[in-house]
Amino acid sequence: MAFPDPSLTMPQGTPPKPRSNGRLARLVASPRFQRWAARTPIVRRFARREGEALFDLLAGFCHTQALTALIELDVLSYLAEAPATVEGLSRCCRVPPDRMRILLRAGDAIGLLRLSRGCYRLTARGAALTGVPGLAGMIRHNAILYRDLADPAAFFRGEGETEMAGFWPYVFGAGAAADPETAERYSQVMAESQTLVADEVLSAVSLSGVRHLMDVGGGTGVFLDAVGAAYPDLKRTLFDLPPVIAAAQRRFSDGDVTLAAGSFRDDPLPEGADAVSLVRILFDHSDDTVRALLARVHAALPAGGRVIVAEPMGRDAKAARPADAYFALYTLAMGTGRTRTVEEVGALLAEAGFKQVAAPRVQRAFVTRVVIAQKSS
Ligand SMILES: C[S@@+](CC[C@H](N)C(=O)[O-])C[C@H]1O[C@@H](n2cnc3c(N)ncnc32)[C@H](O)[C@@H]1O
Repeated sequence: MAFPDPSLTMPQGTPPKPRSNGRLARLVASPRFQRWAARTPIVRRFARREGEALFDLLAGFCHTQALTALIELDVLSYLAEAPATVEGLSRCCRVPPDRMRILLRAGDAIGLLRLSRGCYRLTARGAALTGVPGLAGMIRHNAILYRDLADPAAFFRGEGETEMAGFWPYVFGAGAAADPETAERYSQVMAESQTLVADEVLSAVSLSGVRHLMDVGGGTGVFLDAVGAAYPDLKRTLFDLPPVIAAAQRRFSDGDVTLAAGSFRDDPLPEGADAVSLVRILFDHSDDTVRALLARVHAALPAGGRVIVAEPMGRDAKAARPADAYFALYTLAMGTGRTRTVEEVGALLAEAGFKQVAAPRVQRAFVTRVVIAQKSS
């Protein structure tokens, strides 16, 4: 194998810095050290754990594909009804029994199923998966991302088009002229997973004292629906692109929510709300678009008005799997936005003129994190 041209792998003119842990890394990488670690009582457990963790990284794609097959073939749905034998599932799902047995054992190995008295049944984790709103849809939707990642080196080099970038053309190109069917398909994917996000946001942030909330880029209104259930007296406005607002009309036909169609890239935001939520919006967009949007949000709010940003975010101090090893790749495949850290979002809010930037604690950071801020009184 040829060595890569160093000018391609190192930024030009930047000499490699000696790493303080370089010697340790070389030691741990040496086969002699690894053989010693496997034999030596104190370090043996650590070495085994590290070995298993490495194997899990290697096998992660197979785990995901087994999970996807269990969903695509409706195995989990059948088992949610009743325990079943290999033969029974093989017939229902039209998979040969010897192959079904392998899939079910894989499902057992990844903790979703267990075999008891000749029948497979769901574990608590498997049952939870079937009950989490939007999760099965998200697992199916992942197929697009994983096709984009099929050649990971080319993906990170930015070679070629991604399928993910074409999934919502109306958002980044066609705008108001987009066809409602495409808008509806994308909005459906978002709506399915919104329930979880809404639960998380509403348990992290209190809206008491808010009179009127505007959800900017609120899709078909699932978040505002949850807000209405928790705060029945709150006035609500939904702002989104025209084809999405057309789809939202069905949910809010009673006129409970004011529907405002427009583009936050081109139009000023409606005034009158004393709080604005941006749920899973900023990470779809470049820093320039986010700066312009936050300036519009700031202009639309009265003094003392609040802004709530909710989406997957990392932390500056420590990379984390949901934000840095999943959503960052997802947004890269979309090709327009990027996953930011809580600190980066806070800095963008401060730059837009917001004060009292804070990140309330969330229970499930893999669902969303939240950053809030206020316009000076
Ligand atoms: C990732 S989705 C999030 C939807 C919803 N907030 C949620 O969390 O389910 C992004 C939303 O932003 C909307 N959007 C994108 N560009 C927009 C623009 N220029 N003006 C208004 N809304 C826009 C999309 O139509 C979509 O509903």
